[in-house]
Amino acid sequence: MEENMLKKVLYGCTVVTIAVGLSFAFTATGKADGEDKGPETIVLKTEKAKKPATLPHRAHQKGMDCKVCHESPNFKKGAWTQKDGHALCKDCHKNMTKDGKKSGPTKCKGCHIKK
Ligand code: HEC
Ligand code: HEC
Ligand code: HEC
Repeated sequence: MEENMLKKVLYGCTVVTIAVGLSFAFTATGKADGEDKGPETIVLKTEKAKKPATLPHRAHQKGMDCKVCHESPNFKKGAWTQKDGHALCKDCHKNMTKDGKKSGPTKCKGCHIKK
């Protein structure tokens, strides 16, 4: 009897341990799995904030790997410069257009919507 009880307690502990472990694993990878997709539209600015650029974030997530932007050396979270913004955004649009693919704007007003 007592041995059975002990087995049950040990079994219970193992289940709880596995469950807690799994929930931690999910929390840790949730973002990389794309559960948190971030804002639908994001306005990017430099320190001077003279010429904000609008990123239709959600539209870029369709069929595009998050890493293309989020792991680019030109990705500057909250600390953008003209050089980084143009290297990440404008160059992709320019190169795709040159290759005859449908892409985003290369003209100033296409990204710098607000004045
Ligand atoms: C075209 C480029 C691009 C793609 C593709 C992209 N993102 Fe983003 N994402 C950005 C930019 C730029 C920001 C804002 C960075 C800043 O704060 O200056 C951002 C912000 C975010 C944020 C807000 C929090 C944070 O880390 O700044 C989340 C969450 C996020 N993105 C998730 C994703 C996921 C998930 C994917 C893929 C499904 C994805 N993004 C694809 C460019 C992109
Ligand atoms: C890896 C390539 C790539 C990168 C990097 C990228 N874009 Fe784009 N962008 C595209 C493509 C492809 C489209 C066209 C989507 C469509 O219309 O189907 C697009 C479309 C757009 C549009 C037009 C959306 C519309 O509704 O017409 C804007 C504005 C834009 N991008 C801004 C940005 C900004 C700002 C960044 C940088 C933060 C950026 N893009 C980074 C590929 C890219
Ligand atoms: C594909 C999108 C895109 C296009 C097209 C584009 N830019 Fe930008 N630009 C950005 C991003 C992103 C930044 C960095 C964030 C910000 O300040 O807007 C930026 C930054 C700048 C800045 C710095 C603004 C500041 O406040 O410090 C200037 C100036 C600028 N761009 C001028 C231009 C001009 C002029 C053109 C047309 C010849 C142009 N851009 C076309 C995306 C673009």
